[in-house]
Amino acid sequence: MKPLLQVERLSIQFGGLKAVDNVSFEIWPNEVFSLIGPNGAGKTTIFNLISGLYQPTAGYVTFEGEKISHLAPYEIARLGIARTFQNIELFEHATVMQNLLVGRHCHRHTNWLQDLFFTPATRRAELQFRRTVEEVIEFLDLQHYRDQMVAGLPYGVRKVVELGRALAMRPKLLLLDEPSSGLNVEETEEMGFWIEDIKHDLGITVLMVEHDMGLVSRVSDRVLALNQGEMLALGTSEEVQSHPDVVEAYLGGADEDLPPTPPPAEGGDGSSPPAGSSMSHAAPGLGRPGAGGES
Ligand SMILES: Nc1ncnc2c1ncn2[C@@H]1O[C@H](COP(=O)(O)OP(=O)(O)O)[C@@H](O)[C@H]1O
Ligand SMILES: [Mg+2]
Repeated sequence: MKPLLQVERLSIQFGGLKAVDNVSFEIWPNEVFSLIGPNGAGKTTIFNLISGLYQPTAGYVTFEGEKISHLAPYEIARLGIARTFQNIELFEHATVMQNLLVGRHCHRHTNWLQDLFFTPATRRAELQFRRTVEEVIEFLDLQHYRDQMVAGLPYGVRKVVELGRALAMRPKLLLLDEPSSGLNVEETEEMGFWIEDIKHDLGITVLMVEHDMGLVSRVSDRVLALNQGEMLALGTSEEVQSHPDVVEAYLGGADEDLPPTPPPAEGGDGSSPPAGSSMSHAAPGLGRPGAGGES
């Protein structure tokens, strides 16, 4: 079996900052692979490197054996890599259906001339998109919201719509940047079900960045922990979470024996440990999902 995605000695530097430093890993078909690490570890930057928003300063990424690091984001999307964003990026003043239809457009093989005259090929392609989108709406149980404006939807539903838009591209690899951020316990649980279904029912490979260790443990086949751009540990969720370097990174130089439930200090930033995390008590520096700056 060949890896679906291979990240090879990947590095990127912003000014003097090594945001990603010599990172290598591969993702096998139908695997759920998670990236964890404190805020600023370089997780979103790796997503941006894979999806073509950033060019690496060293190293490269291959997808199905082909180098993709020099390609434009739309070309990478067309190869079968779709993503969601740490902060939801949807067209607020369009319906759920319209947002999902946008996701399919990277797959259109008709050209502008055909579009202009609305040829049978264009019509067929259009009908096929709509069928796929309807399937995704059904799969994610979004029928009720189908024709509603995104702007009026609860946050948890928007998260699922964004997932739907990525799925409508029929990707081979799905990149999820903090799928649980901003979700409550029940919604996070539901997100876990979607990820499991995406893997088992749709056969899609998933690369996920996630802070909620409960969710990470539940859905991940393997986990890579990063800190300050560097690889700390790679293995099963359990192995990685108990790795001394990982524990140390999350402690972030704080006192080693933190009380199990640190009382919120006045003027706190609203941080709270993620639910269900075996590290959460010792890891106030983990940061509230969604609180990290998106770049
Ligand atoms: N476009 C950019 N320009 C400058 N610095 C960036 C840029 N993108 C990310 N960084 C920096 O790289 C580091 C890693 O960021 P990021 O990948 O967003 O971390 P996280 O693991 O929290 O997702 C941070 O220090 C961030 O400030
Ligand atoms: Mg991030």
